[in-house]
Amino acid sequence: MSALTAQRATITLCHRRDLVAHSGVVAWHDSHQIALFYLPGQPRDADVPDRSEALYAVDNHDPFSGANVIGRGIVGNVGGERVVASPIYKQHFRLRDGVCLEDPEQRLTVWPVRLEGDEVILEL
Ligand code: FES
Repeated sequence: MSALTAQRATITLCHRRDLVAHSGVVAWHDSHQIALFYLPGQPRDADVPDRSEALYAVDNHDPFSGANVIGRGIVGNVGGERVVASPIYKQHFRLRDGVCLEDPEQRLTVWPVRLEGDEVILEL
């Protein structure tokens, strides 16, 4: 029996200089808006191995307000979890998996993302 490793396609979404430390920026891919949050000097979550710097890619679309605003949200910590707060109704979404802390039925799509040198590599 052979084990198959699922290979996900990757793209260079943008570059390190496009990121804003401790804040969000929005990149487009395939008509999708992807909010990137970059926390230099902070490690990734303990349960996400193999990442030296905290960088998260989440859907820019806020399911509660219907607006594309997540990238303008404030990053913070709630109960030890890194979150972004929607700028409209202030729900908190966990950055590592997109789950809404106030309403776990709602979640943002998240994409695995990492820095390789100066390139922001997104897995599709
Ligand atoms: S950008 Fe993905 S649903 Fe709006």
